[in-house]
This record gives sequence, C-alpha cells and structure tokens, in this order.
Amino acid sequence: MPEQTFIVNGARVTVDVEDDVRLLWVLRDILAINGPKYGCGINVCKACTSHINGKAFNPCAVPVGALKADDEVTTIEGLPGQVPDRQRGEHGLHPMQEAWLDRDVAQCGYCQPGQIMAAVALVNKVKREGRSITDADLDAIRNICRCGTYTRIREAIRDGEQRM
Ligand code: FES
Ligand code: FES
Repeated sequence: MPEQTFIVNGARVTVDVEDDVRLLWVLRDILAINGPKYGCGINVCKACTSHINGKAFNPCAVPVGALKADDEVTTIEGLPGQVPDRQRGEHGLHPMQEAWLDRDVAQCGYCQPGQIMAAVALVNKVKREGRSITDADLDAIRNICRCGTYTRIREAIRDGEQRM
C-alpha cells in the first residue's frame, strides 16, 4: 500500500493506506484521533471539522492521498497546543474551549469539537482581516447541532473571540 505522510497536531506521521481513503478514517481508525466526529461522511454536517494549514476543513471529504508531506492538520486534540501557555485558561485549554466550558455549551456533545474548530478558524480569519465577528459571520457557520445549542454556541464564540 502507498505511504502517506503529513503532520497532525504537530507530529509528522506516515501511514500505509490507499490514496482514496478519506482522511477522517485515517485519523479515527488508524491514528486513534477521535475528536473529529463522523456524522454524514459527505461534507454536510461538519461534525468532523478540523484545520488544515490553519483553515477549517472537513476531513471526511478529503482523500488522504491529496495531502502533502508538509500539510499541517490540527484536530481538537491539538488545539491547546496552538496557543502559548500564558493564553491557556484554568483547564489548560485553548481560550475558545475555556469559553465553551464557562458557558456550558455542550448538550450531548457530539457536534461540539467541530463547532469549536469552526469557531477558532472563524476568529483567526476575522483577526487576519482586522475586524470582529459579525452576526453574518455566525449565520454562515454550517455546523449542525441536533441538540439545538446554537444560542450558547454563538455566545461562546463571541466570548472566545474576546479571550483570543
Ligand atoms: S462527517 Fe464530515 S461533514 Fe459530516
Ligand atoms: S450538542 Fe448534541 S449535537 Fe450538538
């Protein structure tokens, strides 16, 4: 089988797997990185949202063979490592995760890693653009929550933005 090399949560990994296997299965089944959740497998629900080279993406829609050796994938497990120690909160987590905990956002929790990864990517994007999050930005998030925690998600994103 072909070898696939890329970086995940700061570590270079090489796996033996066919090119057309979707990255979500490589993360979950081969690398035991289970933060990105399987919801639909067809790039709709966004439960698997992670980052590639700092931008949000959905690994259920990306064949592992499309990754280059220097591509950096970050999952929720690697999120705290994206900020310096001094920016981590009382739980040692990324500021967005701390905002999530303080606002008790999660209900069943299934969608929440993807929600947080989408939120962080959005805040980083608006910061690069030199502006703050707008209601339109929040409306554009497409991560589905079957428990309907959207009001708390929006509050936590704004809170997390202030902390980042
Ligand atoms: S599982 Fe990836 S978008 Fe639904
Ligand atoms: S908290 Fe249950 S799906 Fe979002």
